[in-house]
Amino acid sequence: FDSAISTEDKLQKICQLLSDEVDYYNWVGFYFKNGDKNELKLGPYVGAATDHTIIPYGKGICGQVAESNQTFVVPDVYAQGNYLACSIETKAEIVIPIFKNGVNIGQIDIDSHTIDPFTEEDIKLLDYVCNRVSEII
Ligand code: SME
Repeated sequence: FDSAISTEDKLQKICQLLSDEVDYYNWVGFYFKNGDKNELKLGPYVGAATDHTIIPYGKGICGQVAESNQTFVVPDVYAQGNYLACSIETKAEIVIPIFKNGVNIGQIDIDSHTIDPFTEEDIKLLDYVCNRVSEII
């Protein structure tokens, strides 16, 4: 990446690229820890606007990953009790944590309009992306 491009713009481009290249990635966005608060704040994203711009740790898929430090694949969001709906079209979700110096600082969140679309290939791709993102933030 060109260093003249801001981190914000780089993250925005990553969202755009992922959403353009994978047809079942229907909402792609970043959440990051909001300062020293135990909550996530919405960062760059591509897809429908969401009400969930702040998510307390523990709430929803994203909030659970903030606490578990583990990738969370949800093949059917309606089978998940602790879920925050962004769009009625969303059927599945994957959230991958981003670590900086071993600390969970945020995540990539992807919603799909397709039920159960995510495979090991998605996890590999998104792990790679998260590792690269960790290097630029
Ligand atoms: N569904 C998420 C909230 C974020 S939106 O998908 C963009 C959750 O349950 O945490």
